[in-house]
Amino acid sequence: TPAPVAAGILSGTRVVLTAGPTREYIDPVRFVSNESSGRMGYALAAAAISAGAEVTLISGPVGIPAPDGVQLASVTSAEQMLQAALAATAEGCDIFIAAAAVADYRPASPAGQKLKKQAAAAQLSQLQLVENPDVLKSVADSHKVTYLVGFAAETEQLAEHARSKLTRKGIDLIVANDVSRTDIGFNSDFNEVLLIDHEQTQRLERQSKTQLGQYLLAEIVTRWQHKQA
Ligand code: CTP
Ligand code: CA
Repeated sequence: TPAPVAAGILSGTRVVLTAGPTREYIDPVRFVSNESSGRMGYALAAAAISAGAEVTLISGPVGIPAPDGVQLASVTSAEQMLQAALAATAEGCDIFIAAAAVADYRPASPAGQKLKKQAAAAQLSQLQLVENPDVLKSVADSHKVTYLVGFAAETEQLAEHARSKLTRKGIDLIVANDVSRTDIGFNSDFNEVLLIDHEQTQRLERQSKTQLGQYLLAEIVTRWQHKQA
């Protein structure tokens, strides 16, 4: 079992995280989004603060308070999350953790006024979508970050799908969790994950997201140190 991260081990380092869902507006009152609560990303941000890092947390709309000491950048859409992530890493960054559930698509032309019920039926049944930018891949491609961590929420073929993201996005570590289970994941305080990097696959057993945040950060820090050496 790994040890929780030591106090002060990240002092002088810069950690940037994304967390929560994004919202992609259809009209001023309707949006496309997802189930993400933000809890896993917020727990990791809290653990990074405890370890002494300078932490920027780029967060979509969630119902939980930011941990004391983080620099919170509140965003709504994927495009805003991308701009905030590029800005937060522009001067260099030691560890970037993408825990956000970014909407893959957004409405191509959001309506300026609220759609009325009659019009909405036609508009919503033929909603034109465009692909959102990949925040994590864009940050990876900018080459400003030493160690890059992504998440993969899957309902099937967990390890296979997650491993393909590791190479496709050009990152160092994927944290994979099975969102088909109801005892862990989106609507739970608990999570269980597989850590998949270019050398090995490791399981972190089911535990509270707060505790998992600490163990997960410890694993990330060990790998980041190893990559620097
Ligand atoms: N991610 C991101 N920007 C996106 C989509 C995903 O930064 N537009 C990040 C997520 O924060 C996560 C990782 O990429 O760390 C994997 O997200 P996921 O949705 O599982 O991957 P996708 O590439 O979107 O693949 P798919 O939805 O088809 O599984
Ligand atoms: Ca996706």
